[in-house]
Amino acid sequence: MAAQQFDFGMIGLGVMGRNLLLNMADHGFKVIGFDKDNQKTTAFEAAANPGTTVKGVVALQEMVSQLAVPRKIMMLVPAGKPVDDVIESLLPLVQKGDIIIDGGNSHYTDTLRRVTYLKDKGIHFMGVGVSGGEQGARTGPSIMPGGDQEAYPHVQPMLEAIAAKVNGEPCVAHLGKGAAGHYVKMVHNGIEYAIMQIISECYDLLHRGAGLTNDELHKAFDSWNKGDLQSFLVEITADIFLQPDDKDASKRLIDVILDKAGAKGTGKWTSQDAMEIGVPIPTIDMSVTMRNISAIKEERLKANALYKNQSGKIDTTKEAFVQQVHDALYFGILMSYAQGLAMLHKASTELDMQIPLQKVVSVWRGGCIIRSTLLDLFTRIYTQNPQLENLLLHEQIAQLLADKTENTRKVAGAAIQHQYAAGCLLAALSYFDAYRSGQLPINLVQAQRDYFGAHTYQRIDQPGTFHTIWNK
Ligand code: 6PG
Repeated sequence: MAAQQFDFGMIGLGVMGRNLLLNMADHGFKVIGFDKDNQKTTAFEAAANPGTTVKGVVALQEMVSQLAVPRKIMMLVPAGKPVDDVIESLLPLVQKGDIIIDGGNSHYTDTLRRVTYLKDKGIHFMGVGVSGGEQGARTGPSIMPGGDQEAYPHVQPMLEAIAAKVNGEPCVAHLGKGAAGHYVKMVHNGIEYAIMQIISECYDLLHRGAGLTNDELHKAFDSWNKGDLQSFLVEITADIFLQPDDKDASKRLIDVILDKAGAKGTGKWTSQDAMEIGVPIPTIDMSVTMRNISAIKEERLKANALYKNQSGKIDTTKEAFVQQVHDALYFGILMSYAQGLAMLHKASTELDMQIPLQKVVSVWRGGCIIRSTLLDLFTRIYTQNPQLENLLLHEQIAQLLADKTENTRKVAGAAIQHQYAAGCLLAALSYFDAYRSGQLPINLVQAQRDYFGAHTYQRIDQPGTFHTIWNK
């Protein structure tokens, strides 16, 4: 094949890189992928559909030299040093005007550093969030590009072609300045952690608490997925309960999976950054904490022996409890989105990213892990109010929550009374109660701060800053 014939290059033919590239080839683009491992390049070529132009190479130079200029090269490699290593190996091979895209889950500060570093060399660098897992990459992910406005039009046709479609609209849009793409993806993952944790808390209450079998759990989640809780995560949860154990067909797989969850860091980054810019996201924070608690299984077992934690049966009928838990789940999911989106609202100005929230929620409607029917509503809300500080301030959301809070409190109460760890659910409820409270007890904190540290306080009845000589 003659030089400079390919439209798009990919570095890293792991499952995500390979599937994205095959997806692009299905849409008529000529694609070339590089991986040092020739089993991967061979598997990649073998998986191509007939009539598509797909090539795998094991030498980076071979890939770069066959790309049309400006070259469009995406990397899908683990975050951190591997991204810097790829950049260094590309630098001698690319030329001014070429576009390098990081499609992985990089920390946004790394992306910002790389943008500046490469800009000085005349190379465009874009941080692009990609969500949807293996299957999404192959059939239509949600794509979150940000940064370089000059480079974006060059990659826009490819990204729009491969993205998931909702009502014919591609789930991809330019989401702001600098490292906005990776920032939005980070917050997407924070919301993802929170929703997954809340679902697992609901599972625990229904299963151990109310005694629902796996078949009954499947039925509940499946029916929820046909209603106002329709979402990817609820849908796959319904499926999970039916999966037999591949080692012992008499069991369900869910019952033999160890209760210890890993994390690659994006949820933690969301919490860290929310603290940095002063945005409360307690449900997301708690989901990160719960994964950390899950990881210390041996300590948990020692504590269990010491404290004899006996999560008891919840005194309820299955049917009534399923309805209550439905409302609690809906409530918790809404709080998770509200917190993540409030964080993006603040970051947009605080970090000068200019993130268009109406586009973010629109891009999340399809392809990504947190896609749900709620995002259609959010898209309408943010299109009318792009500067809305928090979804909870919108009347329609208030109406939706009005008939969910009572059951949420009942479920939270049952969790506390019967010793179930439902941290995210409780954090969602506390957030709601604090956020809508016209009177918090922080006046006492202010008094204490002034008492021991002369930190001053403000009064409710007159302007100004005051300090008191306490208890003299
Ligand atoms: C996605 C996912 C994907 C991955 C995350 C979360 O949007 O497709 O978020 O990026 O699952 O890395 O992984 P951890 O749970 O391991 O942090």
